[in-house]
Amino acid sequence: MEPSPAVITLLLVFWLKIVSPSLSSIEADDVFSSVSKMEDLVHQEKKLVDTVDSFLIEAKQRLAIVEDYVTTYRQAIKGELNSAWLVANPVDAYHLIKRFTVDWRTTEQILRDVSITSNDACNHVMMLRDKSVFAESHDLHGAAIALIRLQDTYKLNVTALADGRYTGVDQSKEQVFQSLQDLSSRDCFFIARHAFADGYYDTALEWGEAALRQLAREEDNVGPTTEILGYEIKHFMNYASIVHDDVLEKKGPLGMHWQTNSNPVNKKLFRSGSSEKYESLSEQKFTPKLYQQQSEDEQNESYERLCRGEKLRTVKIDASLRCHLVTRGHPALLLQPAKVEQQSLDPMIVVLHDLLTDHQTDILRQLAEPKLATSSHLGPDGTFIRSMIRTSKNAWLEENENASLPAIRRRMEIVTGLIYTPETASEHFQVANYGIGGLYKTHTDSTVNREDTDPWMLHIGDRIATLMVYLTDVEAGGATVFPNAGVTCWPRKGSAAFWWNLYKNGEPDLTTIHGACPVLHGSKWVSNKWIRQYDQMFVAKCGLHFLEKFDALVPHTRVYADMMSRN
Ligand SMILES: *[C@@H]1O[C@H](CO)[C@@H](O)[C@H](O)[C@H]1NC(C)=O
Ligand SMILES: *[C@@H]1O[C@H](CO)[C@@H](O)[C@H](O)[C@H]1NC(C)=O
Ligand SMILES: *[C@@H]1O[C@H](CO)[C@@H](O)[C@H](O)[C@H]1NC(C)=O
Repeated sequence: MEPSPAVITLLLVFWLKIVSPSLSSIEADDVFSSVSKMEDLVHQEKKLVDTVDSFLIEAKQRLAIVEDYVTTYRQAIKGELNSAWLVANPVDAYHLIKRFTVDWRTTEQILRDVSITSNDACNHVMMLRDKSVFAESHDLHGAAIALIRLQDTYKLNVTALADGRYTGVDQSKEQVFQSLQDLSSRDCFFIARHAFADGYYDTALEWGEAALRQLAREEDNVGPTTEILGYEIKHFMNYASIVHDDVLEKKGPLGMHWQTNSNPVNKKLFRSGSSEKYESLSEQKFTPKLYQQQSEDEQNESYERLCRGEKLRTVKIDASLRCHLVTRGHPALLLQPAKVEQQSLDPMIVVLHDLLTDHQTDILRQLAEPKLATSSHLGPDGTFIRSMIRTSKNAWLEENENASLPAIRRRMEIVTGLIYTPETASEHFQVANYGIGGLYKTHTDSTVNREDTDPWMLHIGDRIATLMVYLTDVEAGGATVFPNAGVTCWPRKGSAAFWWNLYKNGEPDLTTIHGACPVLHGSKWVSNKWIRQYDQMFVAKCGLHFLEKFDALVPHTRVYADMMSRN
């Protein structure tokens, strides 16, 4: 008797849990969630290899396997030690972490086994591990999930990606990236299993096929292990196809925790009367719903399309947008006007070009770098949790930490016309760095209307506006998108996005919901400044009607700002 699909699902889930117990638990302080930490890994890896190398001189003949480790590294790196460049590419970054977690484990074991000659090397490695960053297995799982997410969001061609090649999207151009190393059949299979465990059933099948294709090409590996791997992949593909079809049949192609293709793998299902159903599924067309209530799926779809650079706004809506230079008769702005590009009038979202200088953005980055910690975000029960919803590391900078910060704050103040000091008026500078595939799913910045709000928040008011400065250019991906307003802001070093989070009456404006797209290539740094409501009472005045919104940058009231600054 054939086992039913449900039983097979259970078996498979069980198998996945046993085979890779930590698939879904991304723990503690991870390396993959920040490019900055990953760069440390590059140097760390160099140190590891140097250690192993000197050890080889003593025990050459016994250590053919260890030598292999070094050779693999050399071949992979091809002499490239530009760390930023190396971790900019998600496939290379994945390999970097894999060498730490898989290759290095074997090597370390051998070093232990021959401990008489390797004592010194072992001690050296222990010291390195204690003193600085080291990638662990949860980082490898994180890197695999990141690749799946990138592939899914940017609709990357899996065949090409397995060869380390992908096309990046940006405002103006398409660019092709190539990693130093491709993904082996084992890598593709590893990624396929992660995709499956995460409910990406469509992607899991694609990666499984990629694994088989790579296996067929890896001729130098002919032998029993290759045969077993081939068998395992095929076995997986069979199960995954059945589960895929089962989920599609019973639950449909898309839900909170799963997605499938719109057609079943098994063509017999297709023919046996349900073909109309599947055809109607594949024909569903996307119509953007701007300024309307969006279901989570619709919001998700808009988010991804905007991330890929699609235009959701009509020409008519965009026709009323303007670019202008703002001086307001302010001496500083007469010399260096604010370059304002409107992105949306309701809610008002603008890009402020060249807000900060290169020097200023570099200072923000340098100050934050040593302080980065994995970002947590507010969970449903009000506690802060770390999770895959936000994969970045961030740091808070107080203004008195560095003499350049007050000048940066003053520039922000003059351009936006809002009040930033004393500390009740705006939060400290928050600097965030996004890692491989780093993203922040859609959310609003408003904090006050939550049940756990503390008295300080009530005292200073909600986040009336957000000023988000991009501290780096990002080669591909990493845009800030507003699914409800249909706006995409592309990161440009020194430029900033500015928007009002609240109605004039202080209620949160839900059309400002936004998210950070996954970084496809490069490293993304941003600095956020959240401006608080109550101190703005004379510059951003409340309205007469409850639906009134702020519709421009406020006219600057220099005297009041100066008065507040002196406090
Ligand atoms: C994906 O890439 C492969 C090889 O690079 C190419 O042969 C294939 O046509 C591509 N598929 C799509 C859908 O573009
Ligand atoms: C779509 O949104 C849901 C809910 O926020 C989330 O669980 C899911 O992962 C999202 N899908 C994608 C492809 O991002
Ligand atoms: C401010 O930070 C920059 C970058 O770290 C540093 O070069 C500079 O010396 C700092 N200035 C002061 C006054 O601390």
